[in-house]
Amino acid sequence: METTLIRLKLDFTDKIYVFSDEIKPQITPYVKYDKIDFKEIFGNENPVNVEIGIGNGEFIAHYAALNKNENFIGFEVYKKVIRKAIKRCEKLDSKNVRLIHYDGAFFVNLFPDNSINNFYINFPDPWPKKKHNKRRLLKTEFLQLLSNKLANDGHIFIATDHNDYGEEILENLKPVPPLTSCFEKPYETDLIDYYQTKYYRKFAIPGKIHFFKLKKVCREVI
Ligand SMILES: C[S@@+](CC[C@H](N)C(=O)[O-])C[C@H]1O[C@@H](n2cnc3c(N)ncnc32)[C@H](O)[C@@H]1O
Repeated sequence: METTLIRLKLDFTDKIYVFSDEIKPQITPYVKYDKIDFKEIFGNENPVNVEIGIGNGEFIAHYAALNKNENFIGFEVYKKVIRKAIKRCEKLDSKNVRLIHYDGAFFVNLFPDNSINNFYINFPDPWPKKKHNKRRLLKTEFLQLLSNKLANDGHIFIATDHNDYGEEILENLKPVPPLTSCFEKPYETDLIDYYQTKYYRKFAIPGKIHFFKLKKVCREVI
């Protein structure tokens, strides 16, 4: 029997954002959702970049303004914070940003495979207490999912100032072979050619972070 796919309605007709109040009523357990159609969302087929956990939106606004021929989608679960990002991005003189007040991990499942140019995850919540470690976003399964959704030669950027989480990410990446470090070492200890987010400026100690720049390199199987 064929499964009917439910199409999520994301209404960006007269705004650049969708709040969770518009999404939640559409979510039902045990249902399969249709893949997101980026052409429908942006009205073009430009490369798509995704940031999960945009905070006040400085990062996404910065890169969206610099790269007007690319599209940017940002996810943030905290409403008070995404409101700041919306204000900031609405001021941009370009129509290449969409902001979604929802769990980014849920939406990554709905992206077509091999469709994303860059993923950015800047200072993800570290869940420092041992009993909460399992809530961390960047587990092997999720890194594998990000890799599946990345276009070949696409990149994942991850920055954390939490040493234990950084080392866990390093371990979790091992079973995901298409993701290869762009640096000579697995990660750099400071941001390189990268916007310094509010979190970085406020809390990070330069030289004491894990900054990963990973490229999806698919080797041909002979
Ligand atoms: C430590 S803050 C960093 C904010 C920003 N990236 C920066 O560097 O300034 C992490 C942010 O990620 C958001 N967040 C955590 N998990 C998320 C998820 N699954 N989807 C969307 N946002 C998430 C949190 O609400 C929080 O605003």
